Amino acid sequence: MEFGSLRQEDETKPFYTNSLTAREMESLVAICDTLIPSIDGSKLGHVEDDGVARYYSASASQTGTPDRVARLMSERLDHPKKWILRVGLWFLSTWIGSLILCGRKSFSGEFPYFRRFCKLPEKQREEILLNWSSSYIVLIRMLFRSLKLITALVFFTQLDEQGQNLAWKAIGYNGPTSDDSDHEEELNEKKKKKKPEEIFGPLYNGIIDLTNPRDAVAKKLTGRGFTVSTPKSNKNGSFISDPVMTIRCDAVVVGSGSGGGVVAGVLAKAGYKVLVVEKGNYYARSNLSLLEGQALDEMYLSAGLLATSDMNVVILAGSTVGGGSTINWSASIKTPEHVMKEWADKSKLEMFGSDLYREAMDVVCERMGVQCGFVEEGFNNEILRKGCEELGLQVKNIPRNSPSDHYCGFCCLGCKKGQKQGTSETWLVDLVESGNGLILPGCEAMEVLYEREPGKKKKIATGVAFAFGEEVYVVESKAAIVACGALRTPDLLKRSGLKNGNIGRNLCLHPVVMAWGWFPEEEKWPEKKKKSYEGGIMTAMSSVVNAETRSSYGETVIQTPSLHPGMFSGIIPWTSSKDFKTRMLKFSRTAHVFALLRDRGTGTISSKSCIDYNLQDEDEESLKKGLERVLEILIAAGAEEIGTHNSEGKSLNITTANALQIARFVREESSKGLKDLSGQICSAHQMGSCRMGIRPEESAVRPTGETWEVEGLFVADTSVFPTALGVNPMVTVQSIAYCIGLNVLEVLKRKK
Ligand SMILES: Cc1cc2nc3c(=O)[nH]c(=O)nc-3n(C[C@H](O)[C@H](O)[C@H](O)COP(=O)(O)OP(=O)(O)OC[C@H]3O[C@@H](n4cnc5c(N)ncnc54)[C@H](O)[C@@H]3O)c2cc1C
Ligand SMILES: *[C@@H]1O[C@H](CO)[C@@H](O)[C@H](O)[C@H]1NC(C)=O
Ligand SMILES: *[C@@H]1O[C@H](CO)[C@@H](O)[C@H](O)[C@H]1NC(C)=O
Ligand SMILES: *[C@@H]1O[C@H](CO)[C@@H](O)[C@H](O)[C@H]1NC(C)=O
Repeated sequence: MEFGSLRQEDETKPFYTNSLTAREMESLVAICDTLIPSIDGSKLGHVEDDGVARYYSASASQTGTPDRVARLMSERLDHPKKWILRVGLWFLSTWIGSLILCGRKSFSGEFPYFRRFCKLPEKQREEILLNWSSSYIVLIRMLFRSLKLITALVFFTQLDEQGQNLAWKAIGYNGPTSDDSDHEEELNEKKKKKKPEEIFGPLYNGIIDLTNPRDAVAKKLTGRGFTVSTPKSNKNGSFISDPVMTIRCDAVVVGSGSGGGVVAGVLAKAGYKVLVVEKGNYYARSNLSLLEGQALDEMYLSAGLLATSDMNVVILAGSTVGGGSTINWSASIKTPEHVMKEWADKSKLEMFGSDLYREAMDVVCERMGVQCGFVEEGFNNEILRKGCEELGLQVKNIPRNSPSDHYCGFCCLGCKKGQKQGTSETWLVDLVESGNGLILPGCEAMEVLYEREPGKKKKIATGVAFAFGEEVYVVESKAAIVACGALRTPDLLKRSGLKNGNIGRNLCLHPVVMAWGWFPEEEKWPEKKKKSYEGGIMTAMSSVVNAETRSSYGETVIQTPSLHPGMFSGIIPWTSSKDFKTRMLKFSRTAHVFALLRDRGTGTISSKSCIDYNLQDEDEESLKKGLERVLEILIAAGAEEIGTHNSEGKSLNITTANALQIARFVREESSKGLKDLSGQICSAHQMGSCRMGIRPEESAVRPTGETWEVEGLFVADTSVFPTALGVNPMVTVQSIAYCIGLNVLEVLKRKK
């Protein structure tokens, strides 16, 4: 089979080329400058501050935004409806196309009467974009939504030659530097007397960089007890039968995230030779930039620009050594009792009723250093806590895998201090320290390999073929463990020829809806120095029950997100360019609180980039109930102004509104529809797409984690969850992976 066609998607290349034509580019510039134009700030009463005046006067094109947007569109975007952007821009580059997309608004009143979009006055262009945002044609809404998201994200994360972003000072964002000003010196100090692993972190010795000469790579592998063969006959390495190198080991683990990291650590500690194949790159602790734009590009799947095929849900997932655990928000919550009971009774999975599973959770939490305290609570969480207390709602502390004095807010961009105990600081370290394991970053598994036992129907896993750039490598092993995360595992299994109909179905997303509240700096509380993006990301939580559904599926969990300027600007509504820029000025004192739902698993993954997800009506109702509570919490905490992410972008000034007006606002805003791009739904938890069960008709893997079809092929990530979990999944996925790891050990023992 030829691999040339399955070229590795280049999610890691630093420089992207712009493939837009000049005319398409003209339209794009006009759109970017309509979304973020130059505004005379003095008219808005902001003359006093030079930085603010500069921020208002800067347009998207003056700061190079359209070019960056074009590059992202050309190379990074991976979405089934991506063509809308190109077609849209092409339409707008002609007067006829502009007439079709903009209607009467492209009429200018003087010769030439009908103009191309870029030739229209700014005021008219602004009205056109606003019409698009609520157009009855869904494709036009998608066009607007995606262009707005990418343009805002780029504008608020891009850096100039001096490494500065023009907007940051004005909006009160310090960037990562202030957090680590003492770090450079410390680092230089260390460099003088210490070994590289002490500077770069404990994984340094376990990482194999395949850009090194092949001999050196082979030497490092054989030095660790792996068997390597490099066929002389190799021509170009584009055939699986003719790889540039074959590596033999006991077990190969695909994906180094929460699930994969644990299995790899368990197997290596037991004395087996383990190879971890990871698509994402490795960023040494001291090499982390903590810059939002760079981190999204380097450490997130599809640069953080992933969405369901109807664009209704924006999806965040990690893609780097350590996977989701490297960028996750530290919440480390054990599997809730009622979920364990449901999985044990209804799904008939003994594991979840066993003492072994409880022990696994203890092992996992201990290994991650999970604790509940905090020395100082951050802005968002303090607001959530106070709001709940004022309303008499129960509010709990969230256990986290970082120390109580860890107050940074940048962990979602990687943890420089290594205090957050993600898999790259724990299980993968076990793997490396055991001397039995190595990690291959930048390598994307293309196919799981297996053979038929002679004379029988049974298939047996024999390893994995992966691509590094254009080269193909083969790993031969006694067991193969797939842990690519719930979004990518189904694709790898299907591509390898597995047929079970449950692979790729039942995807759950834990949909999240948010509301915001503005707390002016001049007020006494929260403390003046506190900013929305700093502090432990999640320390407080509450919950709401939708009584009408009478099951735990209607329950939403209330927590707070970490939003740096790029994501923040990407998801807040745009109702006019002036309103948008002014809203962003309040960034550092705008709190976000969200409601997260245990959903019913209605998603399907049909290929790598095609994620279909249809929010059920009942689920939508539960989310609305959650949103209502979130608004009440923000009001009770003392917000001066509140609003949601509904595309109409309505907000309410609490200081001037009476009780009746406030109640009406909460009711109206929380009862608006969330589907069809009228709201903004996000997801950072993906689960269930290869669920575990006792019969192949209803599940994709056995109760042991082994696939129904291929012996020795296991799945060990969130995709095996039988249903959605209802809380943050890290502890659960690691505990399940721990148990599956023990099952893999049984297989390896038998094959010895
Ligand atoms: C921003 C954010 C914040 C979060 N915060 C929390 C939190 O506070 N608490 C919590 O409990 N959960 C949190 N989560 C969720 C949590 O990170 C994930 O649920 C968890 O990491 C999933 O584990 P996994 O093993 O299924 O997949 P992942 O951890 O996503 O790992 C999958 C890995 O496989 C790699 N991969 C994919 N395809 C291939 C291939 N073909 N070849 C090789 N490698 C491949 C990917 O690059 C990735 O590194 C957060 C997630 C995000 C995105
Ligand atoms: C850290 O970054 C520097 C400069 O980009 C690079 O040369 C070095 O190899 C990196 N180190 C590690 C361990 O990744
Ligand atoms: C998040 O990180 C913590 C520690 O960094 C880790 O224990 C946890 O498993 C991670 N969560 C997920 C879901 O990856
Ligand atoms: C709300 O109203 C008060 C009183 O009129 C005013 O001082 C304040 O600026 C308003 N706030 C917002 C966000 O509009």
